[in-house]
Amino acid sequence: MQMMNCDLIAPHYWWIERLGMGRTLERRRRWFLPDLGNARNALVLGDGDGRFLRELLRRNSVVRADYVDLSSRMLELARRRAGAERVNYTRADALTVELPRDEYDLIATHFFFDCFDASELDFLFARIAGAAKPGAKWVVSEFRVPTVPARLLVSGLYLFFRITTGLKARRLVDHRPLLRAHGFGMISVNEARGGLVVSELWERGSL
Ligand SMILES: C[S@@+](CC[C@H](N)C(=O)[O-])C[C@H]1O[C@@H](n2cnc3c(N)ncnc32)[C@H](O)[C@@H]1O
Repeated sequence: MQMMNCDLIAPHYWWIERLGMGRTLERRRRWFLPDLGNARNALVLGDGDGRFLRELLRRNSVVRADYVDLSSRMLELARRRAGAERVNYTRADALTVELPRDEYDLIATHFFFDCFDASELDFLFARIAGAAKPGAKWVVSEFRVPTVPARLLVSGLYLFFRITTGLKARRLVDHRPLLRAHGFGMISVNEARGGLVVSELWERGSL
């Protein structure tokens, strides 16, 4: 199957985001950083150009991270931004990359679920649940569509990514019931722009 390819937009991603959404998405990514000080072993999936990864390493001086992204250009940008000292970078598909069992005490996925349809997300969550330690935290940023204008905006974003990256997913899946079904419970949530974008903190085994 033809995968999404972010190589073309990778260097422009940050300023397109800034132009369209100001600092809103950056604030979402950073929202729960103060709660992640105990993390030691993180799985950072689809982090793109590494803006979250850099902040995580800056705020937590002992955490080490496995970064996985499909785009080689995104990976290069992330490596330049966050450095290689405490990070293992892998260019791979999160749906097939080999993951260790019971390894991570932190999972981070920001604006990543929107790359998948419902069955892929279900499969992805099952894999990540197997790689997470009991009590592991999972920090999520995502779009939500509580209103018609939000739905229209998110449809526009899907169109943009379909044209620029070949994204196949057509609509935003509600990840919350799926995450719960895989043994995670949401322990905190914060939203912005009338609920269009949310930051969520989940925990494995907290239902
Ligand atoms: C919408 S961007 C979000 C990037 C970043 N997390 C952020 O907050 O801006 C999605 C990222 O996920 C990556 N990606 C998409 N599908 C993937 C997959 N199946 N496995 C790994 N990475 C994937 C893309 O290359 C891209 O870097």
